[in-house]
Amino acid sequence: MNDQVVQYLEQNADRFVEELKDFLRIPTVSADPACKPHLQRGAEFVYRQFANLGFKAEIVPTAGHPIVYAEWMQSPGVPTVMVYGHYDVQPADPLDLWTTPPFEPTLRDGCLYARGATDDKGQVFTHIKSAEAWLRTIGKLPVNLKYVIEGEEEVGSRNLDDFLAARKEQLNCDVAVVSDTSQYAPNQPAITYGLRGILAVEITLTGPKKDLHSGVFGGSVANPASGIAKMIASLHDDQGRVQIPGFYDDVIPLSEMERQQFRDLGFDETAFKAELGVAEVAGEVGYSTTERRWARPTCEVNGLFSGYTGVGPKTIVPSKATVKITCRLVPGQDPHKLTEALHQYLKSQCPASLAFEFTSFHGCPAFVFDPNSPYIEAAASAIREAWGVDRVRLIREGGSIPVVQTFKDVLGLDTLLLGWGQNTDNLHSPNEHFSMQDFHRGIRASANLWQKLAEMGQTPVASVPDNLC
Ligand code: BES
Ligand code: ZN
Repeated sequence: MNDQVVQYLEQNADRFVEELKDFLRIPTVSADPACKPHLQRGAEFVYRQFANLGFKAEIVPTAGHPIVYAEWMQSPGVPTVMVYGHYDVQPADPLDLWTTPPFEPTLRDGCLYARGATDDKGQVFTHIKSAEAWLRTIGKLPVNLKYVIEGEEEVGSRNLDDFLAARKEQLNCDVAVVSDTSQYAPNQPAITYGLRGILAVEITLTGPKKDLHSGVFGGSVANPASGIAKMIASLHDDQGRVQIPGFYDDVIPLSEMERQQFRDLGFDETAFKAELGVAEVAGEVGYSTTERRWARPTCEVNGLFSGYTGVGPKTIVPSKATVKITCRLVPGQDPHKLTEALHQYLKSQCPASLAFEFTSFHGCPAFVFDPNSPYIEAAASAIREAWGVDRVRLIREGGSIPVVQTFKDVLGLDTLLLGWGQNTDNLHSPNEHFSMQDFHRGIRASANLWQKLAEMGQTPVASVPDNLC
């Protein structure tokens, strides 16, 4: 890679971390209406990064949180790359489990701790700083770049599709790059070619119109907490299979070849159990842990609340019980169809004497990218150089990034999922962090990538990638 760019990255490494801290201090929790002004500030922070570099940039208002769009289109005849990321974060609760406050970024043992450190502010920032390094040294970028950085990924990207459809012409480009996934393991960087889809719902059961004395009334009216427990228990059989009728009907089964590829990755189940603090793994019978996590559909309770949850006893029949559920989906499954199937199934399991209320939040299908794409080898060589390793893993992952399928459907784009994080970075959990070594290697890989993609030219020829396994 260009020496001046490399030197710039080295000389400015500490400042990049300080700027990332400024970004992480803004509590951009998209699910929390009280954070709305902070999401605006988050968008302004991202906007200023681009404006300062001479990008044509704008903050695009939406019905929800704003999208930041920025482009640098000054190199005719070279590929145009779209970078997507999100500046919103998950809620930081439970706050008491954080060693240092979630929005006071703190460096400990080479990692930066804060909500959003890895998911996704730290990873997004790598692609901004790589552009800065080229522009501040060489004065131009090897490729043309368009950035879409949104503020609603963690709540299902609900206003992004309209933006993409409305700007279809302007967003025309050759390939998309997203860093919002993980490496396979420490020092084992990976390119992710598949993600699971998702559907997210909430169900509330209501019994009496207010909480009642459980001695005076208990036994004479249905208890919503017991009702919801029965409903939840009906979601799986004792083989770990989801009981929603039709749930597996459209699942495209894993090929024997892919199952073998997963096995060849060499998964360490003992380390996995120790890391998570579980005595045993669990899940659908007949599948390995890797298959269960990356390529089998699931139905998970995310939250469950009812009645009195404070200290000591309280003798009531609660008025309401609520459960939040998400299903992870695999190729072939339709989020709309399965949301309706889940709705009907749970309704049929609800005791007749309780009122049933169903809310659907969001959904997106699974995503699988052709692992033989010529772009993959360009990305792999950029990563190998930055990490100083001789191979890059090709993996699937279990999380969801709703926009990648829309990129394919609406813009005809393939997406390179280049994750610089680790699954152990505590994303969505207390004490989220990002290794600063991974942060700097991510910037370096991104800076390399612009050059590698430029070398490929605009009409890449398909090739089978080397050094991938
Ligand atoms: N960065 C994650 C997705 C991810 C994490 C993919 C790890 C692969 C490995 C992303 O920000 C995320 O959490 N997405 C949500 C999407 C949902 C709210 C629609 C998810 O997967 O829960
Ligand atoms: Zn996330």
